[in-house]
Amino acid sequence: MQITIEIRPITTIDTEALVTYVFEEDQSIRGQLAELDQAAGGVLRKLVASGELTGKALEMTLLHYVSGLAAQRLLVVGAGKREKFSSAELRKVAGAALRHLKARKITRLAFLPRENDRSAVAAQAITEGLLLANFESDKYKTEKKNGREIEAIVLVGWTAANRAEGDQGMTRGRAIAESQNFTRELVNEPSNRLTPRMLAERAETMGREAGLAVEILDERRIAELKMGALLSVAQGSAEPPRVIVMTYKPPETRPAAPVIGLVGKAITFDSGGISIKPAEGMEKMKYDMAGGAAMLGVMRALAQLKPAVKVIAIVPATENMPGSHAQKPGDVQIALSGKSIEVINTDAEGRLILADGLAYARQLGCTHLVDAATLTGAIVVALANVNVGVFGSDSAFTDRLLASARATGEKMWPMPLDDDYREMIKSTIADIQNVGSGKGGGAVTAAMFLKEFAEETPWIHLDIAGTAWLDEAKPWAAKGASGVAVRTLVDLVMNFNSASPASK
Ligand code: BES
Ligand code: MN
Ligand code: ZN
Repeated sequence: MQITIEIRPITTIDTEALVTYVFEEDQSIRGQLAELDQAAGGVLRKLVASGELTGKALEMTLLHYVSGLAAQRLLVVGAGKREKFSSAELRKVAGAALRHLKARKITRLAFLPRENDRSAVAAQAITEGLLLANFESDKYKTEKKNGREIEAIVLVGWTAANRAEGDQGMTRGRAIAESQNFTRELVNEPSNRLTPRMLAERAETMGREAGLAVEILDERRIAELKMGALLSVAQGSAEPPRVIVMTYKPPETRPAAPVIGLVGKAITFDSGGISIKPAEGMEKMKYDMAGGAAMLGVMRALAQLKPAVKVIAIVPATENMPGSHAQKPGDVQIALSGKSIEVINTDAEGRLILADGLAYARQLGCTHLVDAATLTGAIVVALANVNVGVFGSDSAFTDRLLASARATGEKMWPMPLDDDYREMIKSTIADIQNVGSGKGGGAVTAAMFLKEFAEETPWIHLDIAGTAWLDEAKPWAAKGASGVAVRTLVDLVMNFNSASPASK
């Protein structure tokens, strides 16, 4: 899908649909919209007067063959309250417009942002909104979901003076949204079409194309390194595990510069192991690799955006199966870090593979760690499918991540990590056990377990169990994989060396 900026008078834009948006406060049409309205014989004013055009968030008003406009249709999207409007809302407006028009078999459209939204940041949000909305979870459908594909979109309203900014935002937006879609593509894959070995191959191919160094650790190398926690999960499956290690090096490296480690959980299928899950809904456990896929998406974007900081992604990948070699509740495993773990429940496998992922990231010299994982059902109880749960050991680092989440329109909320919770993962016979004793706090005890392996390194844990999968389509996004955390983490890395994080 091509997206380009075109500098032309709005009324002369010859397209299947011209899209713009109005705020609830736009009860008198002003500015460039007034010019458009005038050319179109006052159609917007009349709609406002009749009470049909309210500006309420994502209200869609589609007008056909408006006289005075070269465009065949005019789509006016509600943008909600002006004071609540930000690039997050602009992203949704652009996305919802695209999906509304795509369902009507439109293949070419023009998007007109309002006067305040012709910056690089706005162009980025619009581009992301369009590309993310265009994604469909229909790879295995012989008849594609929305029939025809959108071929070309032009962004209008820019002038010779601000066009360079627009182009810059567009390029950035494309790098990020296409990477988020790369993540979504992986997360949607069923487990028979994306085993740990296949995931590693897909990562290698992407890395080669993007210009990133990729190293794949196979089961022999994993055993040599003594990643006992990861191996304990993998031993129940006929499919061997892999660890994907992907490195981005900045153009210039200083000695003693920080290195960010991105550790992502990639359970390509979570049956629960011997502590097996109930049948209902088990098919969804193909998305238990969404954290790992998010980290690969982030790396893909960074390869294009070229931040000034070194980043290593570490993605431990395995199935969690109840085969005859499977580990059993009560087994004790020795993790890469040397700590012993009593495995009370084999379904708490994510924290086991991350324990070795985090320890390996530290061995590789990472000075800052972020992990992302579909880790607990408990985070869904706490935050539903709205917010990502954020746990952090370093408040300055965590605050920067939360600022990135706000800037990129991904909802994330801080969760506690008091030492009091440490009591709950004490084991009778080993250093630590893999589930909390006593009641409640399942997302926190899981995070507490991970903290034991991040040790003194500043670390953030993102529990994306509730947010990595959309059970229902949104006006701006298809059902299925959401690709959550990609935009936040790209923003975090891009702003890592600057004095203050971006916020809007
Ligand atoms: N992959 C699941 C967590 C999950 C649950 C992800 C629902 C997405 C939706 C994880 O491996 C798991 O099974 N966690 C257990 C931990 C428990 C055994 C302590 C859980 O949350 O029930
Ligand atoms: Mn599990
Ligand atoms: Zn899992």
